[in-house]
Amino acid sequence: MLNLESYWMPYTANRAFKRNPRIIESASGFYYKTRDGQTVMDSFSGLWTSGLGHCHPRIVKAVQEQVAKLDYSAAFQVSHTGAFELADKLINFAPPGFERVFFTNSGSEAVDTALKIALAWQRVRGEGTRIGFIGREKGYHGVNFGGMSVGGIPANREMFGNVTLPNVRHLSHTLDLEHNAFSKGQPEWGSHLADELERIITLHNAKNIAAVIVEPVSGSAGVLVPPVGYLERLREICTRHGILLIFDEVITAFYRIGAPFGCERFGVTPDIITTAKGITNGVIPMGAVLVGSNIYQDFMNGPEYAIEFFHGYTYSGHPVAAAAALAALDVYIEEDIGNKVREITPLFEAAIHAMRDVPHVIDIRNIGLMGAIEMAPRPGQPGSRGMEAHVKCFERGLMIRHAMDTLQFSPFLTSTPDLFDETFDIVRKVLDTID
Ligand SMILES: Cc1ncc(COP(=O)(O)O)c(C=O)c1O
Repeated sequence: MLNLESYWMPYTANRAFKRNPRIIESASGFYYKTRDGQTVMDSFSGLWTSGLGHCHPRIVKAVQEQVAKLDYSAAFQVSHTGAFELADKLINFAPPGFERVFFTNSGSEAVDTALKIALAWQRVRGEGTRIGFIGREKGYHGVNFGGMSVGGIPANREMFGNVTLPNVRHLSHTLDLEHNAFSKGQPEWGSHLADELERIITLHNAKNIAAVIVEPVSGSAGVLVPPVGYLERLREICTRHGILLIFDEVITAFYRIGAPFGCERFGVTPDIITTAKGITNGVIPMGAVLVGSNIYQDFMNGPEYAIEFFHGYTYSGHPVAAAAALAALDVYIEEDIGNKVREITPLFEAAIHAMRDVPHVIDIRNIGLMGAIEMAPRPGQPGSRGMEAHVKCFERGLMIRHAMDTLQFSPFLTSTPDLFDETFDIVRKVLDTID
């Protein structure tokens, strides 16, 4: 008998789960297998992590070989071959202008690292009064204190008494069902919301603001796609005021929306990119922060024996994670994943928007291979419809994710059209049973 009590599960209704556990034992390709032998199709690519499919043989082999050769190497003042090879490969994969990589072990760490780089960079170039950040409502930037502070999901802050970094303001989110419900791709309405940034800067003074951080597409809050022209305006305002623009691409990188990095899909170049998840296809935890060589070079002053940036993790650039990421990058490139995603995106869009007539559905949103179906909440019980849908889909052999009453989809980058049919067939049947 497996004892379920000792494990305090993250972001989980622990008591409900332990009464009705959903325990995965193995995975291959598009499918999980549970402990009691049920096959479950994964419509969420892990947790936005595993776009190339579970247990991709090439990544598995690279990890197995690496762990037998070099399990760990100290990360400070020494390093190992794989970290340098990976940094180089990642830079070749990244948009032009990104020339340096700092490794972390998660998206949360990548975000906090990016915020610290922004603060420190403003100081090293003599702008030490720039200690403020601007995030956005409904933004999700992980769970560490920096990411929680710039994030904008109330439940993630409330429980901790809103003890956040000082000097953080938030832009409004861009979801407005009156104006942009059922948009396919980028909504036409809403670019003017970026002008709030100008107002916040006028009130608080650009000289006090280090950086703006947003997800190009808000993922965890339920796939909020930026209105046409919105990101361009943020870029223009930040540039004009000497404020760094950070794109949190923990979800949107590695072809999730058709381009290697989401910013390339939108044609807007930030100053700093954070990423994680798809970097190793979720196989080994890893995150990364990408910056231009100008930012890096500004730190390279003082005596050469001195540490230039007092930050780093024991596992930064871990050899086994680096091996997984090197193999994943080979697969992304050699298997032409970008073209595959662009080919199947219209099929995904058609399949998800066909759910419009299902009971309780009040919005459907999508871009690339990210999609969400939002249901109206039950009066007085927000989130209960979403939870019920999640559990009932699982019972029918489909893993979906929900945030409150919004169902989220993040299909495999190599999905075949029948997977979309199967997914939404099950979701429709389930939602038809939900009052
Ligand atoms: C945009 C974004 N940033 C940061 C994170 C945090 O990543 P992690 O859970 O690896 O710390 C996530 C996780 O979903 C995310 O979606």
